[in-house]
Amino acid sequence: MRTAIFGQGYVASILNVGLERIKKGEIGYEGIPLGDALPLKVEDIEIVTAFDVDETKVGKRLSKVVKRYWDGNINFERDYIIKEGYRDYRGQDAEIDLEEAVGKLIDEYEKKDVDIFVNLITTEHAEPFMDIKELKKAIKKNDVDRISPAQFYFYSVATYERPTAFINCIPTQLANDPAMVQLAKETKTVLFGDDGASGATPLTADLLEHLRERRRRINSICQFNIGGNTDFLSLTEPERNLAKEVTKSSIVEDILGYDVPHYIKPTGYLEPLGDKKFVSMHISYTSFNGAEDEWIINARINDSPALAGLIVDLIRLARMAIDREEYGTIYPVNAFYMKMPGPKDAKSVAKVKAFEMLNRWVNVTPEKEEVVIAERVEQN
Ligand SMILES: NC(=O)c1ccc[n+]([C@@H]2O[C@H](COP(=O)([O-])OP(=O)(O)OC[C@H]3O[C@@H](n4cnc5c(N)ncnc54)[C@H](O)[C@@H]3O)[C@@H](O)[C@H]2O)c1
Repeated sequence: MRTAIFGQGYVASILNVGLERIKKGEIGYEGIPLGDALPLKVEDIEIVTAFDVDETKVGKRLSKVVKRYWDGNINFERDYIIKEGYRDYRGQDAEIDLEEAVGKLIDEYEKKDVDIFVNLITTEHAEPFMDIKELKKAIKKNDVDRISPAQFYFYSVATYERPTAFINCIPTQLANDPAMVQLAKETKTVLFGDDGASGATPLTADLLEHLRERRRRINSICQFNIGGNTDFLSLTEPERNLAKEVTKSSIVEDILGYDVPHYIKPTGYLEPLGDKKFVSMHISYTSFNGAEDEWIINARINDSPALAGLIVDLIRLARMAIDREEYGTIYPVNAFYMKMPGPKDAKSVAKVKAFEMLNRWVNVTPEKEEVVIAERVEQN
């Protein structure tokens, strides 16, 4: 599974470190939901290239960049050099030939023989295209103001002529944009998204399901995160925070069937907390005979490993989807791994329910698994 990364930041770097340590036998499959339950092995994932726009990273070796996020000793089997990506030119009067920029990216995809792509760039604000004609028009007219980096990366992957998969771990609506999903189908691309569900939001979703099943009436929900990594720092910009708020808030009405006054946001940046964010949650509800209960949950959660573990599954599921020729977006996968599961208008469901749906899609039964493995061995 030859994989490329957009955005060699905290999550990507922890993903690189974790995979390397698994291959060396130093750690187990903790934090990887499907661990060894898939026919494809974690050890067969290879990250072969990455793109970034931070001048202090571009042109540097992976091992050098990773030092910022991991202070243990680590030798990478593939110590690639970070390549220059596509920057955000919106509002900058830049004259960029978009097709040429696509071509440059594709040259690297071909050189490294990549077929799976993981988007982990900084949270951005972007308007969905909705209609594929609009997207094609923007590219043709070199309308750099209309297209965000994440949208551009997806377009480049779709244009790359071979079956591929794009895993969108950030809030930009791609799997929720009908234009992108149509493009994915037309170009034999698998598209997972949007926004990895790794932190407090999946827990809130499961708690809401628990209360719904017991017919307890929820009165208010409050959930916030404060963290000290650059992801939280970037969210101090109001537009970027808004992008996250949209993906986090959609769970309430989807799961409960009614809306409730709620405050669900990443709220702040506090540098000393580092990657281990502080999460706090308060849910108040009415129970039998009008009893008023409250839940208060506090946690410290390592942010980047939580998402990196999910990506280990997503890369393997992407390969499976390509092999099954299931192009476009795949709801049973998105429903478990994403905060805002595509396609557009698909509902968020509790993760306990989504996990069953996911397993049905994967169809992991011991007998089936043996057959799949035997077939693979035969093919090789
Ligand atoms: N648990 C989590 O940490 C979590 C959960 C859900 C979603 N996410 C999303 O994952 C993304 C990455 O999170 P992170 O903690 O690694 O952030 P980070 O700030 O450590 O890394 C982001 C990287 O993207 C790079 N970048 C910015 N614009 C780019 C562009 N146009 N092209 C290529 N690279 C670009 C930055 O230079 C940086 O290296 C964020 O968008 C975040 O919202 C993270």
